Amino acid sequence: MAPAFIRPFAAADLPAAARLLAQRHRRHRRTSPLLSPRYEDEATTLAEVSNAWETEGASGCVALDGDEVVGYLLGAPKTSTVWGPNIWVEAAGMATRDPETMRDLYGTAATRWYDEGKTAHYALIPSDDVALIDAWFRLGFGAQHAHAVMTPPTEPPVVPGGLAVRRAGRRDLDALAELDLALPAHQGLSPVFSAGPVGTLEEARQEWEEDIDSDYYASFVAERNGQVIGAAVGCPLEKSSTHQGLSRPEHSAILGFAAVFPDARGSGAGQALGRAVGRWAADEGFETLVTDWRVTNLLSSRTWPKLGYRQTFLRVHRHLGY
Ligand SMILES: CC(C)(COP(=O)(O)OP(=O)(O)OC[C@H]1O[C@@H](n2cnc3c(N)ncnc32)[C@H](O)[C@@H]1OP(=O)(O)O)[C@@H](O)C(=O)NCCC(=O)NCCS
Repeated sequence: MAPAFIRPFAAADLPAAARLLAQRHRRHRRTSPLLSPRYEDEATTLAEVSNAWETEGASGCVALDGDEVVGYLLGAPKTSTVWGPNIWVEAAGMATRDPETMRDLYGTAATRWYDEGKTAHYALIPSDDVALIDAWFRLGFGAQHAHAVMTPPTEPPVVPGGLAVRRAGRRDLDALAELDLALPAHQGLSPVFSAGPVGTLEEARQEWEEDIDSDYYASFVAERNGQVIGAAVGCPLEKSSTHQGLSRPEHSAILGFAAVFPDARGSGAGQALGRAVGRWAADEGFETLVTDWRVTNLLSSRTWPKLGYRQTFLRVHRHLGY
């Protein structure tokens, strides 16, 4: 196939990009039917691509076959410093007929991003698109983060012998605050190396004080011999800033937090807590349940798929210059 002609993205490209994105989503839903059918419609994807294009600092490219747009790539920076001097390609930020063309699109778009000093690049790719993921891998990207979805389970949650799982209450605030710090402590270790800013125990306790009685959060603790060893929190996905746009299923809840103290891991508490959140979501009438994890987190990346979560999007990343 002849190399595509690449030029900068312009506002006039939005309808063609929306068409390609709707086609991508239709293919994606064949393997991930729990994703929202709304984005199979070009009018809906037009709003999503327009949003990506209108984000401050956005830029990107289109690939042309003759006059026809056959691929596009759009990225924009996030202001949070945790991502470095970054460019993000969000769920509506790319679609292409030929996966190989994505390498040409990135080659041109990244020239500008690099010139602007944006050297930490992130891109969200449909997990089922093996050829597209391979194209990104051959651009020097590696897998960083997985988004996943499942149908909330309707069967009673199984709790292994010796453990009990119950709703969390005020008497658990100290343990909950400690567990809040156990998550970033683990994410800071090898091979995740991804802690982000870690708050203090007092700050964590204060946050739990504010949230424990909230109607939005369903918090559970696991106990062994009367001691709290782990916790998990579910909430409506609309309360979360994650899983935006095409990665957001309809009527969804999220398993938004889970941690088990290090010496109690591997005994079934994490899965029991995850199942309790799942059952809560089913009882509340949510049709889908999402979660996400660092693919380098050896614990969560092995635990959540066992509960039935199936990947929808894979975030890849690359730090330029080394
Ligand atoms: C993730 C976490 C909550 C899971 O809780 P847990 O109590 O350790 O998990 P469980 O014991 O219920 O299940 C762990 C599963 O992973 C499996 N597992 C563990 N190590 C494994 C390995 N090396 N290879 C394959 N599977 C492995 C276990 O076998 C178990 O599955 P099984 O019961 O079918 O055998 C807990 O490990 C934790 O707190 N991790 C640190 C914080 C964190 O990562 N939070 C989640 C962020 S998304």
